[in-house]
Amino acid sequence: MNHVSQLLKERVSLRRYEKRAIREEDMEVILNAALSSPSACNQMHYSILKIEDEERKGQIAELCNHQKFIAAAPVILIFLADQHKWNRYNQLKGVPEYARAEGIGFREPGLSDLLLAFEDTMIAAHSAVIAAESLGIGSCYIGSTLVNDEELSRLLDLPPHVVPLMVLPMSYYPENFKRVHTPRFEKRFVVFEETYHALNDEELEEMFQSQAERYYHPSEKERAENYAQSFYKKKTGHPFMTQMTESLEQILSRWHKKWRQTERD
Ligand SMILES: Cc1cc2nc3c(=O)[nH]c(=O)nc-3n(C[C@H](O)[C@H](O)[C@H](O)COP(=O)(O)O)c2cc1C
Repeated sequence: MNHVSQLLKERVSLRRYEKRAIREEDMEVILNAALSSPSACNQMHYSILKIEDEERKGQIAELCNHQKFIAAAPVILIFLADQHKWNRYNQLKGVPEYARAEGIGFREPGLSDLLLAFEDTMIAAHSAVIAAESLGIGSCYIGSTLVNDEELSRLLDLPPHVVPLMVLPMSYYPENFKRVHTPRFEKRFVVFEETYHALNDEELEEMFQSQAERYYHPSEKERAENYAQSFYKKKTGHPFMTQMTESLEQILSRWHKKWRQTERD
């Protein structure tokens, strides 16, 4: 196995952090790796916030669904899906007037732009994660940024058309840290040849069997009869997922409304 494959295989989510600050030259490598990522039309629809202030880290941890461990990291990178800069630049350079004169119409960023921004942002974030790993620096994606999206956006001074997509606390792996690898679904349930293979009931049972054995512990309090019910109660059906859904719906409708409006102008 080559060095990169080994690195990918060894990576785990790190949730226990070392206080030691990350060396500036290491952070440069991490940020440059993010910036080297591919992006749609090379537009780089993202921004990265580097956060070291103790109070702000604590507030972020709270707003991201009270995940206190986040605040213990010496640094947090926040990856923002960002259409603000391109949109502002377009306004600055007379694109709306030009587009209307050309008969092609001008529109504010719409849902397709949002999708591209999400894609660009995640690719950049993962380059940062892997570059960090290569330097002995671990991290953990925190996706619950939309649980309190409005408050988080206020805390970070985010302008319109900027969405806090991913929070990434980072630190050097603590000494003697024992990596525990979480098992994955078997390849045959995830990778299909040529066309999609819809799994039948038996295959679905097989696919989830090892997770069910590992994570499902019947309890009277939970009243779940199987792993799917138990998982649904803890995650998919949990109120924080409803909060995230509502935030995302609001973001989508804001973007879409503005887009429709500028289409009509
Ligand atoms: C989009 C995304 C969101 C995540 N959000 C959280 C989170 O809010 N809190 C957390 O502790 N881990 C979070 N994780 C980490 C996953 O739980 C972790 O990647 C998964 O369990 C596999 O474990 P591993 O990364 O150690 O291989 C997130 C991962 C991803 C990719």
